[in-house]
Amino acid sequence: MTQTPNAMITLSETTLGEEEAAAAAAVVRSGWLTQGERVAAFERAFAEMVGTRHAIAVANCTVALELALEAVGVRAGDEVIVPALTFVATANAVRRLGAVPVFADVTSEDDLTLSPDDVAKKVTAKTRAVCPVHYAGWAADVDALARAAPNAAIVEDCAHAPGATLGARGCGALGDVGAFSFFSNKNMTTGEGGMLTTHDDALASSLRLMRAHGMTTSTLDRHRGHAYTYDVARVGTNARMDEIRAAIGAIQLAKLRANNALRAERVRWYRERLAAVEGLGLPFSSVSRGASVHHLFVVLLPAAADRAAVMSAMRADSVQTSIHYPPTHTFKAYEHFEANLPVTDAITPRLLTLPLHPTLERGQVDRVCDALLRALGR
Ligand SMILES: Cc1ncc(COP(=O)(O)O)c(C=O)c1O
Repeated sequence: MTQTPNAMITLSETTLGEEEAAAAAAVVRSGWLTQGERVAAFERAFAEMVGTRHAIAVANCTVALELALEAVGVRAGDEVIVPALTFVATANAVRRLGAVPVFADVTSEDDLTLSPDDVAKKVTAKTRAVCPVHYAGWAADVDALARAAPNAAIVEDCAHAPGATLGARGCGALGDVGAFSFFSNKNMTTGEGGMLTTHDDALASSLRLMRAHGMTTSTLDRHRGHAYTYDVARVGTNARMDEIRAAIGAIQLAKLRANNALRAERVRWYRERLAAVEGLGLPFSSVSRGASVHHLFVVLLPAAADRAAVMSAMRADSVQTSIHYPPTHTFKAYEHFEANLPVTDAITPRLLTLPLHPTLERGQVDRVCDALLRALGR
């Protein structure tokens, strides 16, 4: 879409189009809206993309994280190691189970994923799981994290990373369970939505039960006369995805690889323009681990810059920016949690997220860079 010269350049845009609209309309016309064959087909296609034996569609990534942590055995009082540089969902999921989030630092100013060295320092006898975030679309060093916490399960927070890889393996296939988000600003969207991935047959059957109240048959089975009643095998919840979202998700998934390539191209444009700006940090410049899917493009402002002033100057130049993230340990609801996080604390006041989406034009990337440089007085 060609933009008018001074139109606001938004942080993210969906790539939804007529195909998704038609697919959603077809579900509405079919008369069957709740979890059925479209969900099953979306799950099969997603599992194939990630490279796991199983994918289980759910209502969102937050509930996916909760179910994943419970399925790998996290119980009240257990500890789960998480980064603070993430959306609050990662730590909230731990607390919803009555477990304790233990914050570990990110690796460096350049590698903003969970530090295996700091995780090793924070492991205790109570550590039940580690929950790395593939921040901005870059795979965390899951193998090193598993070595750092050998008795803990790994639940990958893959909200930023559909299609990202580490060597030949997909994010979501690196640990015990992966949890994806299809929220509207993500690399692929169903509005709200999420997916669990795992190689493990026993975990997959637990997760399938847990997302639907532990019921042993589905509404569709009963509708078709394949079953007349059900048992409840374990306590669960309603975390199901519906057919409308699955129909949209299948089309978004088919576009994912091309859209991720467009994101990578736009990141190259930004890097060309910004690499030589003195004092400006471009994280992940020297990370060679895996192929990123560039969910976010973040920069580290020069230490002396006033971030709020930069953001408001850029907004006056019609450029949206954001902060990913205010770190979790600084929120009121987390003030009583210990957090010795020197790298996270040093970088988070300088983080700034610039617009990134597959339809961003080269001229718009130039406008964002011009606005940033003006705001920095360069
Ligand atoms: C890193 C991370 N984890 C978890 C979530 C939660 O995803 P959802 O909104 O699908 O619950 C998000 C969403 O913004 C996220 O960015």
